[in-house]
Amino acid sequence: MSDCAAEDCPLGHLTALETADGSLSLHSDHFQEAFHSSVGALEEARAKFAQPAELQRFLAGSTLRVLDVCVGLGYNSAALMSELEERQGPMAPEEAPRLDWWGLELDRRPLAMALAHAPFLKLWPEPVRHRLEALQRNGGWQDRTSAGTILWGDARQTLKQLPSGSGFDLILHDAFSPSRCPELWSEEFLRGLAERLAPGGRLLTYSRAAAVRGSLCRAGLELRSLLPAPGQRKEWSSGTLASRPNPRDPLPDYGPGWQPLTTMEQEHLQTRAAIPYRDPGGTDRAASIQQRRQDEQGRCTLESTSRWQRRWIHRVASMG
Ligand SMILES: C[S@@+](CC[C@H](N)C(=O)[O-])C[C@H]1O[C@@H](n2cnc3c(N)ncnc32)[C@H](O)[C@@H]1O
Repeated sequence: MSDCAAEDCPLGHLTALETADGSLSLHSDHFQEAFHSSVGALEEARAKFAQPAELQRFLAGSTLRVLDVCVGLGYNSAALMSELEERQGPMAPEEAPRLDWWGLELDRRPLAMALAHAPFLKLWPEPVRHRLEALQRNGGWQDRTSAGTILWGDARQTLKQLPSGSGFDLILHDAFSPSRCPELWSEEFLRGLAERLAPGGRLLTYSRAAAVRGSLCRAGLELRSLLPAPGQRKEWSSGTLASRPNPRDPLPDYGPGWQPLTTMEQEHLQTRAAIPYRDPGGTDRAASIQQRRQDEQGRCTLESTSRWQRRWIHRVASMG
């Protein structure tokens, strides 16, 4: 896409990529990172977000509240909404929960680029395509079974504009990696997300970083480790499910695509890698947040992460 002013193009130059499952992804030259793993944007959305959401838990007559943090091209929400469509069937909308959707995103171009790409549009049923188009055109939609609103801007600020009151059942957190975008993985931002979860609500993310898991734990959430999908490279974890405890409906230890944290993963949370990203005012730049963390790591007495790695060498060999 052509160059534009920095305020309109916070991601810098965007390059289209094709991932292994044939789906479109992008690379941002500002963040120096691709939007999805090379395995596949669609595959990732299904395995890490739609599957552990367990949408069958939400029954007709209820409202499913979803927050998509870093909407990007819209894969995660589109995968979720497509599954809801399949479940209800076009003739019986009353069979499904009502969807109340919110999205946070900094840059308008990824969604626009996705919607200009015919193979991307073909992935989704018509009602889902219409919703994505309405987001781009009008910043939201309202139809018989759902309503959605996207808040454009820095998620650290737009998070505060979300309506207060009942919490989210699902938060899909898909920012660039903590090393590239620490501002969306800080102790403060993650606590802000955790506070917006309903009891039993789930935050899903591809991140397995100790700093992220530590912050989610301190925000009062229970953690599970997401497992690599069948056929994917064997790794020790492919992300995190974090849930606000609900004594009336406890989260099972095992579920579709998740398990409890192993001893190795629990010990990871006791190493220097678990020092959180801190952004007290919610306005710091990435470099300051990184520097603050490095200083804190230098002062702390926690075990070094390389020592932990050596202890678990066979299990973490695939860590990359
Ligand atoms: C890894 S991509 C998200 C991929 C997306 N979920 C999808 O399915 O295509 C990260 C996204 O975070 C957005 N982003 C980066 N910094 C942000 C910020 N401070 N606030 C809101 N969004 C941000 C980027 O514009 C980009 O679209």
